[in-house]
Amino acid sequence: MSFRAAADPPFYAATFEKTPAAAALTDIGRTLFFDVSLSASGTQSCASCHDPRHSFGPPDDAAVQRGGADSRQPGVRAVPSLMYAQNIPPFTEHYFDDEGDDGIDQGPAGGRTWDGREQSAHDQARLPLLSAFEMANSSPDAVVGKLLRANRAAQFRRIFGDSIFNDKDLAFRAVLLALETYQQSAAEFYPYTSKYDAWLRHEASLSDVETRGLSAFNNPAKGNCARCHPSALRKGAFPQFTDFGYAAIGVPRNGAIPANADARHYDLGLCGPLRTDLADRKYYCGLFRAPTLRNVATRRVFFHNGALHSLEDAVRFYAERDTEPQNWYSRDARGKTIKFDDLPVQYQGNVDVQPPFDRHLGDAPALSETDIKDILAFLQTLTDGYVLR
Ligand code: HEC
Ligand code: HEC
Repeated sequence: MSFRAAADPPFYAATFEKTPAAAALTDIGRTLFFDVSLSASGTQSCASCHDPRHSFGPPDDAAVQRGGADSRQPGVRAVPSLMYAQNIPPFTEHYFDDEGDDGIDQGPAGGRTWDGREQSAHDQARLPLLSAFEMANSSPDAVVGKLLRANRAAQFRRIFGDSIFNDKDLAFRAVLLALETYQQSAAEFYPYTSKYDAWLRHEASLSDVETRGLSAFNNPAKGNCARCHPSALRKGAFPQFTDFGYAAIGVPRNGAIPANADARHYDLGLCGPLRTDLADRKYYCGLFRAPTLRNVATRRVFFHNGALHSLEDAVRFYAERDTEPQNWYSRDARGKTIKFDDLPVQYQGNVDVQPPFDRHLGDAPALSETDIKDILAFLQTLTDGYVLR
């Protein structure tokens, strides 16, 4: 962590004619986030896919959301929640935790999107504004043109200075900065108001089943979930339920994604095809960033390809992947289960085989039925908005 004295000017201070106040940026960012007039179709805003009623994740159970100028172009991945992203480090191939672990290289971590190809929320906002299957603007200029038509000009001039529209690139950067700043507003994006947070503050107690669920979640011989989704306070900092790291966990192929109609198409995460700079690192094929599990109970699609539609299935997948793969994967023409059916054979060695994934066909699963129910109860405690009694 680096600290900046309150008196220091913000990093964007010299960018605009006027230095905007954070509160003004947050307000304008919120307006832009919900503004459908910024899309080519005129019907889609950031909030259409990142719905605040679902923790800024997908509004429904569709594996991928549609967008584009005609609102019909399917996306290729499930929409992640935008909450608790404030501490995601920039992408690195060699992540060293700032404490403990004595300088062990934990491998790739950080970055935005499921494959970390964007470095910050600032860069990230360009993507949906310009992507053909999202808000589908043809250029930054087109976005700025829409601002002018939507009568936001006066507001922008007031906040960024009268000359803001003299340079369209600068005006576009103002849009990105506002969206980024809005996503850093704690009250909306990282309030820490779950029952679990109240329990960490000693303001609430967990029920027996929730307590058992937490312990099965942490137990290395059971869920071992905290290995990648850390649950404990660290030096007083509240847990994010992700270590920001990458893993291939062998999520089943999702036939509901139109791109998957082509049997030769695979979304391999870190090694491509959406991400292009690590295409030669075959040991990264199939790896995706572990998402936060905060507010996960408000989702109806799970994993990068939205293959599963209930939290119970998502947890059960961890229990049964290796012991009963026939429950999860498709079959070949002779009826044989194709384990890891969303990964070409040559990359299947990248899949994680540490507990709970250390079992074999027919073994007892790492999680019993009771453990699964208990973990589900525990995961419900991670939903924000818990009211203290
Ligand atoms: C059509 C649906 C759609 C719209 C509209 C949309 N997004 Fe997204 N967003 C996604 C999907 C899908 C991903 C994951 C992309 C990937 O992994 O390649 C994503 C990822 C993100 C991420 C990265 C999150 C993370 O965990 O790394 C941010 C930040 C984000 N979007 C912000 C925005 C903003 C700001 C807007 C409006 C300007 C917006 N999105 C509009 C679908 C959408
Ligand atoms: C090896 C690291 C690892 C372990 C151990 C692990 N996870 Fe995950 N988890 C991930 C990764 C990586 C993803 C995203 C995978 C993908 O989409 O391809 C994920 C995704 C999830 C999701 C979907 C969230 C969403 O927003 O779609 C849930 C739910 C989940 N994990 C729960 C658990 C539980 C419960 C356990 C313990 C039984 C667990 N995880 C253990 C790495 C891990």
